[in-house]
Amino acid sequence: MPDMATPAPATRPANPRFSSGPCAKIPGFSLELLADAPLGRSHRAAIGKAKLKEAIDLTRDILGVPADYRIGIVPASDTGAVEMALWSLLGARKTTMLAWESFGAGWVTDVVKQLKLDAEVKTADYGDIVDFKTVDFDTDVVFTWNGTTSGVRVANGDDIPAERAGLTICDATSAAYAMDLPWDKLDVVTFSWQKVLGGEGGHGVLILSPRAVERLESYKPAWPLPKIFRMTKNGKLNEGIFVGETINTPSMLCVEDYLVALKWAQKIGGLKALIARAEGNAKVVADFVAAKPWISNLANNPANASVTSVCLKFTDARIKDGAAFAKAVAKRLDKEGVALDAGAYRDAPPGLRIWCGSTVEKADVEALMPWIEYAFEAEIAAQAELA
Ligand SMILES: Cc1ncc(COP(=O)(O)O)c(C=O)c1O
Repeated sequence: MPDMATPAPATRPANPRFSSGPCAKIPGFSLELLADAPLGRSHRAAIGKAKLKEAIDLTRDILGVPADYRIGIVPASDTGAVEMALWSLLGARKTTMLAWESFGAGWVTDVVKQLKLDAEVKTADYGDIVDFKTVDFDTDVVFTWNGTTSGVRVANGDDIPAERAGLTICDATSAAYAMDLPWDKLDVVTFSWQKVLGGEGGHGVLILSPRAVERLESYKPAWPLPKIFRMTKNGKLNEGIFVGETINTPSMLCVEDYLVALKWAQKIGGLKALIARAEGNAKVVADFVAAKPWISNLANNPANASVTSVCLKFTDARIKDGAAFAKAVAKRLDKEGVALDAGAYRDAPPGLRIWCGSTVEKADVEALMPWIEYAFEAEIAAQAELA
């Protein structure tokens, strides 16, 4: 039973969706907004191609992607976009892999165990980040901008030299649209629609700098490439991919959904407004955590604390089984209908993960905070009863 000293808060978040992917849809979303999707038509018909091109153009516009960078819509969500890059670009020079949580670690496995490259691997524990000052950017460097499962992000691109011989390949799926990405420091950027803009899974976005394109056109990997990874034909870039002629069939319903989200983003003030929303949401959590002695941010350095996937850990000495306790708190939040999918990622340290990305309303984050305290106190009381 909950401790009677901590009554249930009076207000519930209007939208309890705090999942780190797929993330909350845009405010006011309804399926009717997708009525303009050209369903039952070929994606290669003029209308389909125009929609795909518009998605690429708006992506460039809102993210501020330089005019000479290519933007492609590719298969298999962010994972597909990252794999395309790794399998197509790596092997030409030495590779450095950076990882500080589970998704980064997954890319290490791919490169070392599947591609069998003799890469330098630099890792940091959950809560910390690799020191970019120690990285040789004359090698190809693969990293995740925001570690979705640890809530630790790259603070900025200052330690990446603008002049570098290697390529920087950045999985920015939980960063794009909520954090500033320094395009001059990034050669490959990937993300999926299901994160900060609350879009759908299944489609990836792959952004390539001119240097990345140069690599594609001058280097042929020693391993075979499946059709869905192939970006060149006879040694030349397949430019069609980067104007909306996708390699295989996309979902025009998902494209429409992405367009609706992009137009919402534009309407509220573009990237600046999107970033401000995420930062405002994350600050609500940070302020709450700072005022409570029993919970803290998993990110050890506030400069690297994510403003999207905010990861929290319980630090109360009374907690006997950390994993069971955190799970019980998350379950209680779910049961109360105040935070769905807010448990830590399965491979991450036990705790909570509150998605604070740009589609989440600040009032909902504010309404959730007292519920976290309520659920925490309730589980402390439940644990005492069991003892
Ligand atoms: C950092 C990171 N990389 C990759 C992925 C995989 O994304 P997708 O399922 O869209 O391929 C995720 C999903 O949460 C992620 O957070």
